[in-house]
Amino acid sequence: MSDDKKRRAAEAALDYIQPGEVLGVGTGSTVNFFIDALASVKSKIDAAVSSSQASTERLRQIGIPVVDLNTAGPLRLYVDGADEATRHRSLIKGGGGALTGEKIIAECSETFVCIIDDGKQVNRLGAFPLPVEVIPMARSMVARELVQHGGMPEWREGFVTDHGNCILDVHNLEILDPPKMEDTLNDIPGVVTVGLFARRGADVLLIGTEQGVESLS
Ligand code: 5RP
Repeated sequence: MSDDKKRRAAEAALDYIQPGEVLGVGTGSTVNFFIDALASVKSKIDAAVSSSQASTERLRQIGIPVVDLNTAGPLRLYVDGADEATRHRSLIKGGGGALTGEKIIAECSETFVCIIDDGKQVNRLGAFPLPVEVIPMARSMVARELVQHGGMPEWREGFVTDHGNCILDVHNLEILDPPKMEDTLNDIPGVVTVGLFARRGADVLLIGTEQGVESLS
């Protein structure tokens, strides 16, 4: 079952934690297993920087202090999930809508450990619709641009990100060159964040399987 695989990957990420550090923590159901597992080692951790309000609440519930990234400075370790991952460790993220915080924390972390179940491994990114966070007034304009790039954007109606923006989930994109696509879509005015993590992908992929956990680095 995918929950068992997610839990296995999440628990394996505990091995990467060093005592007394401020840890970067992502968002999603796999990360929730990681946060649950953190409860058993919380005396080892000084604090966490969180990528979303949802993870912040969950971390505080188990007694882990959450600090601002500006206060924490560069991080050694960031643990987060993904919606799709290639063997080159390029990712699609943002299914939970927290992609902007996730991209910022990934960028300033020395090591990004990505925890997934084996159902998320792909040869080519893009079967999962690519989340793009957009400034609300630019929504229709960005959607038209995304169509020019071959995508079929769908507004995640009713969803507002932690930063007050909207999400377009882009179907049917042909992502042959992930870093190039990431740059191209980032350049559209009004785009806040593209859920492609290719320029800064994961350093380590921990993949939960039926048998255990595979590691790719
Ligand atoms: C949230 C994310 C998540 O990491 C991604 O959606 C995977 O979520 P889950 O672990 O629930 O499958 O990028 O913005």
